Amino acid sequence: MCPHMDAYDFDDDEQQIPPIRGLSRSERRKKTKKKQQNPGNENIIQDSTAQLNEDTLTFTYQASRYEAGWLEKSLGGFYQQHWIQDVLRLIKGGKEASVYQCLADESSGQKYLAAKVYRPRQFRNLKNDHLYREGRDYLDENGHIIHDKRASYAIQKKSSYGLKLSHASWIEHEVKTMQILLDAGADIPVPHASADNAILMTFFGDDFTAAPTLNEVSINKKEAKSLFDRVLFNVELMLANHRVHADLSAYNILYWEGEICLIDFPQAIDPRQNLHAWPIFLRDVTRVCQYFSKFGIESDSFNLASDIWEKNGFSLSSEIDPHFLKEMDPFDHSL
Ligand SMILES: Nc1ncnc2c1ncn2[C@@H]1O[C@H](COP(=O)(O)OP(=O)(O)OP(=O)(O)O)[C@@H](O)[C@H]1O
Ligand SMILES: [Mg+2]
Repeated sequence: MCPHMDAYDFDDDEQQIPPIRGLSRSERRKKTKKKQQNPGNENIIQDSTAQLNEDTLTFTYQASRYEAGWLEKSLGGFYQQHWIQDVLRLIKGGKEASVYQCLADESSGQKYLAAKVYRPRQFRNLKNDHLYREGRDYLDENGHIIHDKRASYAIQKKSSYGLKLSHASWIEHEVKTMQILLDAGADIPVPHASADNAILMTFFGDDFTAAPTLNEVSINKKEAKSLFDRVLFNVELMLANHRVHADLSAYNILYWEGEICLIDFPQAIDPRQNLHAWPIFLRDVTRVCQYFSKFGIESDSFNLASDIWEKNGFSLSSEIDPHFLKEMDPFDHSL
């Protein structure tokens, strides 16, 4: 049994299978209708039992009881909507979320899909998110900006309802950023569908293994140069589309079949709205340069970052209201 999953419990309001975004209503109806077709009247009891089982996600992955319950709630909707057939294994349990390799339903056109499932709110090790939330709108479960006064008040007061809205907004920001970057042509997984607590995306890997992150692979200098250029191409493309990753490093870049893929976007910021955008952008570029320097790629991260920054119409400014900083945070401290 996975110890950190032991304490999982579930809010009453999370008992329902969440709605799935990614399919139009009519598509969903079509798929559900197809699934509910009954071939005849014979064996009606057996059929209804089959229907019951068919509606419940059971999986090959050996999860603890609590984790299984959580997966069923988080991914059950994807199963019912014919996105996935099975959860095969845990790829990695991160601080905020765990990512699973799923067997895709044929109708998805994929063999596998990766499901990023956020940990229950109360057990999530939140990234130090005050820097990233600054200037951000709160998004509801449909990705729309929350204007409702009561909801805004609940968020501000951090009531249990407010925390639920904040949690949903954090995930919606990840989905929204992925959609923007996908449209822009960035190297990221395709976000196929999302629910209240999970995102279903392209799986990078094969039958036996998931793609390693860049920090886990060894590359020669020639390859390092082309990957470095590609990462910077993505960094600039993101900026041109008003996004800074804000947690970019070799740990958040997958490497598969000689190509890279950026992942993990909930903290991504809009540089037009966030007062800390420049130092955060510089940190991203610096981490990338540091990683590639191990493979003999020399670069001046400050010059590189400031060139890209200014080329995209932003100005350098180090002015940050101390109100937004946390004294004990080493990164904040350096600003
Ligand atoms: N689309 C994918 N295909 C294959 N593996 C993936 C995919 N997305 C994520 N992973 C794996 O899952 C891990 C965790 O994903 P991600 O970084 O998005 O979550 P996280 O909870 O924010 O993690 P962390 O806190 O460690 O940064 C990644 O390091 C990677 O190994
Ligand atoms: Mg990560």
